[in-house]
Amino acid sequence: MKRVLLIEDLPQVAQHLQQMLAREKEAELVGAESQADAAIARVTTEKPDAVMIDALLQGKITGFDLAKRVRAASPGSRIVIVTVPQRPVDPKPDQAIDAVFVLPGGANELAAALAIGRRETLRLKGKMIVCYSPKGGSGKTTIAVNLATILRRRGSSVALMDGVMQFGSVRHVLQVPPSTRSIVDLPTGQGMRTSLSEVLWEGPSGVAVLLGPPRPEEAELMAAPDVATAMQLLAEDYDYVIVDAPSKLGDETLALLDSADIILLLVTYMQASIANARAAVDTFEALGYKGQKPILLVVNQSDTVAGMSRGGIEHTLNLPVVAEIPTDWKTVAESLNKQQPFVLSSPNSAITKAVDALANTLVQQQRR
Ligand SMILES: Nc1ncnc2c1ncn2[C@@H]1O[C@H](COP(=O)(O)OP(=O)(O)OP(=O)(O)O)[C@@H](O)[C@H]1O
Ligand SMILES: [Mg+2]
Repeated sequence: MKRVLLIEDLPQVAQHLQQMLAREKEAELVGAESQADAAIARVTTEKPDAVMIDALLQGKITGFDLAKRVRAASPGSRIVIVTVPQRPVDPKPDQAIDAVFVLPGGANELAAALAIGRRETLRLKGKMIVCYSPKGGSGKTTIAVNLATILRRRGSSVALMDGVMQFGSVRHVLQVPPSTRSIVDLPTGQGMRTSLSEVLWEGPSGVAVLLGPPRPEEAELMAAPDVATAMQLLAEDYDYVIVDAPSKLGDETLALLDSADIILLLVTYMQASIANARAAVDTFEALGYKGQKPILLVVNQSDTVAGMSRGGIEHTLNLPVVAEIPTDWKTVAESLNKQQPFVLSSPNSAITKAVDALANTLVQQQRR
């Protein structure tokens, strides 16, 4: 068991690293500090096995200078510098950098940085695509369900996961029988892998659906790391795992986004949508997602132009728009009434063609 001290001043990054450490069985967090002096005091008393220090520490002292003080205070502690892909750092043990961890990083990279011997690792097969938007009602569920169905129609094996643990809507937009099992019926730990197939429901065109809890109070039974593990296990068996994520950037959402291969960020041409997307993208940057995984913009209701153009949105968010989905109340309402994805109920509509074009882009991206 490695005793780890974390020195990080950005709360969201600290939270991310604490969650990763919580998931690592061979590591134990002995403290988290955001100030250099408090951190040195802690190092002196705790003598941790490893100290993780943010290279971009703000304030009087840089992460690199602090690393040297940590080395002096506790020569036996392994020092891991935390950085983002845009600011590469090389390990230099003579300068108090024993290892480097690049955000957001995976469990294996964290273990390697902490010098934890690795057990058998998950072999990820499929692509985990998380549909996210900071603003509710942007079309996450609509696009996740229809994208999953059309990818399946194109011949891939596909799992659709409701990542919303409270009041998820995947079960309501599809013809799910009331007693269908859900993610809450999965055991945690090793048992999750073996039981996963038993709780999946065969949805439209053979999409395997992992539902969210049926009752709101059951949301509390789901720990964020378990939600992400369920997604990773699905990716071992399916070519694509499409996840309908919550808008709130809480533990669950961050756990899903951390593990995602691709983030589809849903926006509209409305100012409020773009302003919130900007704030989300800033968080993604702080977590090191940019440069590490594609963040692709999908403009929903793209015909509702409210002062923003496609080029304007790409410039403001510094991300590419990969699809524009038009508004089609009639087709969408009919599909909801029938509880059938519109890509099946209205295959020739413009909205279906737009989702198909998005699927095509994602398939091409995977080939590359
Ligand atoms: N392109 C569209 N054309 C017409 N109606 C749409 C379109 N996209 C979404 N809708 C409708 O807008 C509403 C919100 O969409 P949806 O439920 O997919 O959003 P969401 O982001 O999942 O919302 P929440 O944050 O509540 O989970 C729904 O009633 C949906 O049917
Ligand atoms: Mg939804």
